[in-house]
Amino acid sequence: MAGRIPENFIDDVLARTDLVELIDSYVHLKRTGKNYSACCPFHQEKTPSFTVSPEKQFYYCFGCGASGNAIGFLMDYTRLGFVESIETLARNLGLEVPREEGVGAPREDYQPLYQILEAATAFYEAQLRNPKVKERPVGYLKTRGLSGQTAKQFRLGYAPQGWDNLITALGGSDTGVKRLLSAGLLIENEQGHRYDRFRDRVMFPIRDSRGRVIAFGGRVMGNDKPKYLNSPETPVFHKGRELYGLYEAKQASNKIRRFVIVEGYMDVIALAQYGIPYAVATLGTATSRDHIEKLFRHSDELIFCFDGDEAGRRAAWRALENALPTAKDGRQIKFLLLPEGEDPDTLVRKNGKDYFEGLLNECDTLSEYFFKYLSAEVDTRTLDGRARLASLAKPHLEQLPAGVLQQLMLKRLGEITELQDIQLAPPEAPRAEPSAPDARHGLGPGHDYADYPEMEGLHSDQPPPYEEYNAGSRQPVRRKALQKPKQRDELSLVDATIRMLLNAPRQAAELSLPDGLGELQLPRMETLLELFEFIKQKPDASTAAILGHWQNREDGATIFKLAAREFLLPNDEQSPELSDALRRLYLQKVEQDLDQIIADGVKDKNKFKELLHLQKELSK
Ligand code: GTP
Ligand code: MN
Repeated sequence: MAGRIPENFIDDVLARTDLVELIDSYVHLKRTGKNYSACCPFHQEKTPSFTVSPEKQFYYCFGCGASGNAIGFLMDYTRLGFVESIETLARNLGLEVPREEGVGAPREDYQPLYQILEAATAFYEAQLRNPKVKERPVGYLKTRGLSGQTAKQFRLGYAPQGWDNLITALGGSDTGVKRLLSAGLLIENEQGHRYDRFRDRVMFPIRDSRGRVIAFGGRVMGNDKPKYLNSPETPVFHKGRELYGLYEAKQASNKIRRFVIVEGYMDVIALAQYGIPYAVATLGTATSRDHIEKLFRHSDELIFCFDGDEAGRRAAWRALENALPTAKDGRQIKFLLLPEGEDPDTLVRKNGKDYFEGLLNECDTLSEYFFKYLSAEVDTRTLDGRARLASLAKPHLEQLPAGVLQQLMLKRLGEITELQDIQLAPPEAPRAEPSAPDARHGLGPGHDYADYPEMEGLHSDQPPPYEEYNAGSRQPVRRKALQKPKQRDELSLVDATIRMLLNAPRQAAELSLPDGLGELQLPRMETLLELFEFIKQKPDASTAAILGHWQNREDGATIFKLAAREFLLPNDEQSPELSDALRRLYLQKVEQDLDQIIADGVKDKNKFKELLHLQKELSK
């Protein structure tokens, strides 16, 4: 297994890549002033609001907020992973991607786990061919209508009866047993006795999006309980983030048009066998935001499919709530509730592919399902009921990214409730999403490309109002920005400074930072200091290279958003000098010290005088 890609190689690739040329090879760009523009490839639009800055090697869309550098563009446009994007850029430049040998990342550490899981998969598969035990499981799979080919494709297997089949086959040494244990394949009881977790069950290997087996689901063949037994959480398996069938769906086609998200393993498998290879299932958990974002990296259309009973309706609503913030323009989210008592497995078997795809084609859009569900909660014939509908709907609509869908749904809400002028609260500051736990696949921070966190927050920053970018050209946005210098003031001093650093890193490299700024307790002060430090160490780094450095990180979204903000400022508007911003930060620090010294009763008079003097100097 290859090691991490060295950071300076990534910098180098970014420095040598021409973003304009790269994007132009996918989306035709037109020169507009010192930037380039096009209709945004990430959302539907008629007039171009997608802008590329050759100078900053950075793109930004006024319409949907998409932004990034060359790596980000490839990831979003071609849906390649982080590592694959770098590999593509390197290939374009004729460079070989170097790998660090076992540095930093504990990447190697999980290798034995993957190996033992693979060995277990092969062992369970082999039991389906083992004449001594195969009869019952094979018979069971047949009664479920599965073909041998499907079983092979999903690597189905059988864990035989008995307490120690797997231990005997794979746990030949102490290390072997330890690995089986940490892969979740054995159970250790209180007396320290170890035995196979899966016994007499049909086995469904769960693969990560790269095809590595990371866990299993095991089904009883009769009516015993529990029906399914799943692997516990392990260093390589976090069930709240994985999707059963994702790897198989990716294998089945290189451009996945849409996903249907179903509830069970058997649903995924039956749909695949009947010619619908784009189904995935969560592993008995609710559909999370992580799941949804993960799927949107491969396709723009998601269809949630649930049983039509009360539990299914509740699950669909929960999925809808988690999907709202991800519903950017250009993405489609739909809902299919099945007739009671049916699941996709039974339906596709009874009625075939065309019937099931017919259901998928005709099901509710997010907007339709949303109003259907909420309208069932109130009596829309009364004024009170309609007012209640409005107040139920509003907080949800506020979760949507600003864009066409939000506007349309707001309009629809107005029509249904006959209330005019329903106002949404302005979007809040970027929601702090829990960041991806990087250690998961042992790839080290940021190198888990299967789970690269989307640039959250970018899209919740307040974009220009809808009418403005819908009005024709980008012009109105700029004019408005000029009339409203307020937009600038909304930025905190720290953020404004970060933005200036990103905008003119070379200029910043020549300045030095006032002492003690780190003690200033302001949001993102640490990021500012780190950014400054970075620029000092790499005075030649371009904006793109700096962004590349932050791309993998938790606070990357903030940095990207602030870099994007530069585009929102008209070119002719003078930005305050960086040194002036630093002066103001220093002043704040001095005032914080003064407050402290006063609170302590001014014990050090000299220090106090010195600070007062500084304050006066800095306020000039
Ligand atoms: P079949 O009965 O084989 O058709 O199962 P199914 O795939 O249709 O599953 P079902 O709709 O009953 O449940 C949906 C999903 O919930 C399953 O695929 C499992 O992931 C999970 N699940 C169901 N029953 C259990 C259980 O007893 N224990 C656990 N841990 N998960 C379960
Ligand atoms: Mn079923």
